[in-house]
Amino acid sequence: MTAMNTLSLGASHSLRIGFIGAGRLGQALAWSLAQSGLRVVAVHSLVEAHAAALAEPIQGCTTVSAQAVVDACDLVFVTTPDSVIQNTCDELEWRNGQAAVHCSGVTEVDALTTARSHGACIGGFHPMQTFGDPHAAVSSLPGCTITVEAEDAGLMRVLLEMTQGLGCVANQLPAGMRGRYHAAAGYTSQFINALFDQAVCLWQTWGATEEQALRALLPLAQGTLSSIQRAGVARGMPGPVSRADLSSIDKHLRAISPMGEDMLHFYTTLCLRTVALAEQAGGIDAQQVSQFKDLLQQAEER
Ligand SMILES: NC(=O)c1ccc[n+]([C@@H]2O[C@H](COP(=O)([O-])OP(=O)(O)OC[C@H]3O[C@@H](n4cnc5c(N)ncnc54)[C@H](OP(=O)(O)O)[C@@H]3O)[C@@H](O)[C@H]2O)c1
Repeated sequence: MTAMNTLSLGASHSLRIGFIGAGRLGQALAWSLAQSGLRVVAVHSLVEAHAAALAEPIQGCTTVSAQAVVDACDLVFVTTPDSVIQNTCDELEWRNGQAAVHCSGVTEVDALTTARSHGACIGGFHPMQTFGDPHAAVSSLPGCTITVEAEDAGLMRVLLEMTQGLGCVANQLPAGMRGRYHAAAGYTSQFINALFDQAVCLWQTWGATEEQALRALLPLAQGTLSSIQRAGVARGMPGPVSRADLSSIDKHLRAISPMGEDMLHFYTTLCLRTVALAEQAGGIDAQQVSQFKDLLQQAEER
């Protein structure tokens, strides 16, 4: 087993921080860290202009080779796409006492094993936020959760300080849980798009546009989010199932059936989950649960 390496420097404000990969997350994180008073001193990216765009607003930040970032910095964020984090790390000479950190949600920290074998500490720093436009992401980052992971106590302390300095909330994840953790994020991220897609399809059947549908549906979704925030997942669930309203669900099923098996099956699968939640919240009893289940099954068999 590899002996644990330790970060040899002090508090985060004294660290020289570098970035390899000046994409959406790299830019937003570098700018946010610099704004929080930390020293972002070097960046490398495949396209020089992208590295320059990251460096430009940060006083004293230079664009250099990847190896020069590692040589010049105490803590290096490897912010390349997930598929090349390991190769990028493998090609570099790391040293004792520094840290290599990636920002992926799904890639295990072990992807940085080469840095560890050279004496560096390794870690993960995953902001639970979507980074599209890096300028917009700088504003949306405060208040988000950042999942931090590090074996070394010194690096963990630094990552926690950074999280606090960014105005974010820290979440710690045990090693080996990233697949599950990232799948969980998907439910409340891109799977929402899949739900909206179904709703918009229904609106389009009477000639409404996606824009019209979203104008009506987004405030509804925001209301549901507030309700979950106030009352929790089960008790904060709105809708006919929570009110034991079988007749409304029957009307939904009859309206959706002609739109094809896939659409109906997706509806019944989701509806079945809401039946379990309504029971958990105490909104329906065992008899009503079986009535809902029968109704959903009959619709599938029709
Ligand atoms: N975007 C998000 O919403 C988000 C959210 C949380 C976490 N993350 C994580 O953040 C990391 C970066 O994602 P991203 O969305 O910022 O990706 P991205 O926008 O595609 O940026 C990746 C950057 O890495 C650079 N790059 C690619 N190969 C490289 C190499 N071999 N050496 C140096 N630079 C290289 C690219 O350079 P050029 O542009 O110069 O070609 C690109 O700018 C990933 O681990 C991702 O999982 C992303």
